[in-house]
Parts: sequence; C-alpha cells; structure tokens
Amino acid sequence: MGNDFSKLSPKEFIQTIRTRSHRKAQQAAAATAPTKAVETAPVTSSLTPAPAPAPTAEPPASVVKTSPTDGAVLSDEDAVFWHPSQDDSDREYHKVDSSNYFLPSDMQEQTRLDLQHHMLVMLFKDLIICTPVKEIMTKKSTKVLDVGCAMGTWLDSVYRIYLNPEYHGVDIADELNQWEKMSMAKCIFGNVLEGLPYEENTFNFVHQRLLFTGVPKTKWPAVIAELARVTKSGGWIQLLEYDVVTYRQGPASKALGGTFAAMLDKRGMDIHAGSNLVRYMNEASSNSGGSMSLTNISQKTVSCPIGWGGKVGELFAQDSEKALQSMKAFLPKIMGLTNEAYDALVKENMAECGRNQSFGNFTCVYAQVVKN
Ligand SMILES: C[S@@+](CC[C@H](N)C(=O)[O-])C[C@H]1O[C@@H](n2cnc3c(N)ncnc32)[C@H](O)[C@@H]1O
Repeated sequence: MGNDFSKLSPKEFIQTIRTRSHRKAQQAAAATAPTKAVETAPVTSSLTPAPAPAPTAEPPASVVKTSPTDGAVLSDEDAVFWHPSQDDSDREYHKVDSSNYFLPSDMQEQTRLDLQHHMLVMLFKDLIICTPVKEIMTKKSTKVLDVGCAMGTWLDSVYRIYLNPEYHGVDIADELNQWEKMSMAKCIFGNVLEGLPYEENTFNFVHQRLLFTGVPKTKWPAVIAELARVTKSGGWIQLLEYDVVTYRQGPASKALGGTFAAMLDKRGMDIHAGSNLVRYMNEASSNSGGSMSLTNISQKTVSCPIGWGGKVGELFAQDSEKALQSMKAFLPKIMGLTNEAYDALVKENMAECGRNQSFGNFTCVYAQVVKN
C-alpha cells in the first residue's frame, strides 16, 4: 500500500498506522532491548534546546524571536472560554464540566492521535518507552499506566513489544470505553486533575503524553505528584509535551498559531509545557516535603519539521491540519472568520509551513520516583 490513506475507512486507517508504527517500534526495541539485566547508568539531564531540523537557510532573527502569541486574532474573547458542551455538531467530547480540555474524543480524533503516534515513534525512536524501564518491561509483575490514554494507542504499541506487563489506561473521555480498545489494557474513567482512581504505589511505570491543552499551568506540579503517588518507589514516570511555538512562521501560521497560543494562555494553560517539564518535576519533589523525590531526570527535545523534511514532516503537517479542523467549533469564532475563510487559512498555513521549513519542538522527560 502507498501513502494514500484517504481511501481507507477510519478503522482500516488506524490498523494500517498501528501496524506500521509497531514495525518501527519493534525495530527500535530490537536495536536497544537488553538481552540480560544491565545496570543503567544515571542519565544526565540535557537542557540544551534542540537545533532546527536540517535547515537549508537561517531564518531571519526577527522571525525566531517573535513571541508565540504574536499575530493572535482574538475578535471574540467569550469564545476563548468555549466548552465542548456548547458544540451542537455531531463531534463527541468528554463530559466533564470542570475540564478545560476542548478536543473531541471521537473516531476522527482517534485517527489523528494514531497518526501523531506514528510521527512520534519516528521522531523519538526508542524513547516511546524510556531506556531504564525496558528491563522491567520483561517482567510479568510489572504494572503500566497511561494517563490520558484516549483509545490506547501508546498502550497498544508498547504491548506489542512487551507482552508480560499488566496494562492500564485512564481518561476523562469515558465514551472511549465503548470503543474497540485493546483487550488486555484495563481502561477506566479518571481525571488526573482530581486524583487518579488508583491506590498509591500501584504501578512500576506511569506514562502521560500531550495533555498541554488540558492541564492548567498552576496544576502541573500537582499532576506530576499524582503520577508519582500511584508509582511504586523505584518506578519511573515519563511525560512528553509540546511547546506551542512554531519557528519560521509566515503570516497564516502567525495568525493561527498566535491565536491558538493566546487562547491556551488565556485559559491558563502552559504554552511551553514541554520546556517546563523538568522544572515542574523539581517543584513536585520540593512540594512533597521530603516524602518523594524525582531523580535521574532525563530530558530529550526534538524538533519536528512541519510539511517538509520527509515522512515525519508530512505526518506532522497532517496532524496539525487535523487538529486545526478539530477546533473548527470555536477557533473561527475567536478569529472572527467564516468557516470558509478559516478553511482557506488552514490550507495556506500548511503550504506556508512547508515553504518556510517551519518546525516545532516536542520534549520527552523521564524520572525515577523515590519515596522516603
Ligand atoms: C491530545 S490527547 C493525547 C492522547 C494520548 N496520550 C496520545 O498521546 O495519543 C489528550 C488526551 O488526554 C485526555 N485528558 C484531557 N484532560 C484529562 C484529564 N484531566 N485527566 C485524564 N485525561 C485527560 C483527553 O480526553 C485525551 O484523550
């Protein structure tokens, strides 16, 4: 099969993406999986920003130095605080009144998340699961949790490599449970902002990825403390987030990206969640009053091209375009645009990102939980 995914039904598409992603993850795991127990050296934290992905030309300094919210068009401030319950289209969403999370939870969104997972596997390779954890993943006694698991893409992908652990997932979108999930993961409703529905010290490995649109800036240390609470002493947590900053923007990208960033900022979200993960981890440790510390912290930031630079850039462009379409219930209103004008802007944005060799940064951070 070529790359024309448009002819596939959502289910066929998901299967195709998951199979491909699984093959790549297997190759990465085969290259790195320990054949016997090895002692992992403490990993040093690298805080150096990632270089741009293979630039062919230096962008003008003025472009790089602009603020992420430059170009924001906020013509309807009320729409900034839009809640999914206001959408009367046929898109499905979580039903948690107190949650600021605004992306849909239907099959269309799941298609985007699977595509995005495929992109992240390519981008981070074996970091889909951090190196120190690989050893415990071979054990039957290991328990793994994915927070904000959606339909279980990450769990599914890890399970295909490591059959032995017991897998759990939690998400605020409980309609996800009606979906055809992977059978060996037990996925339940849970809101990480209000406490996870598990006893403390339950899991050996807790994973959370891309909740930057749902976790308020002030709640990040508490969320990380909650992940650590359900993790056993000596176990690991791993988070991956995105900074809502597009580098080498053109006008369309500034208007869309700037408005999206301004909207998130006004809603109290952190538009630099990826860059701030290590700081949030350190705050979680110091807030615990000495009862818990996160050690052996490791950070990896990777730049991802948007619409250029091969397959990974192609996938990120599709992911971004689908995400912008998923926000059609409120983003055009915020910007004072008709749906048609918004569609045209999204289209121009994608073309422009390819022309300008735009990119954004994803950051993966993992740490070991130690309880005193
Ligand atoms: C952008 S999706 C990412 C899904 C998945 N982690 C992945 O990487 O494919 C964010 C997910 O987090 C869930 N979510 C948002 N806020 C949450 C919360 N407070 N507690 C638990 N899940 C949440 C959403 O319902 C959604 O499924």
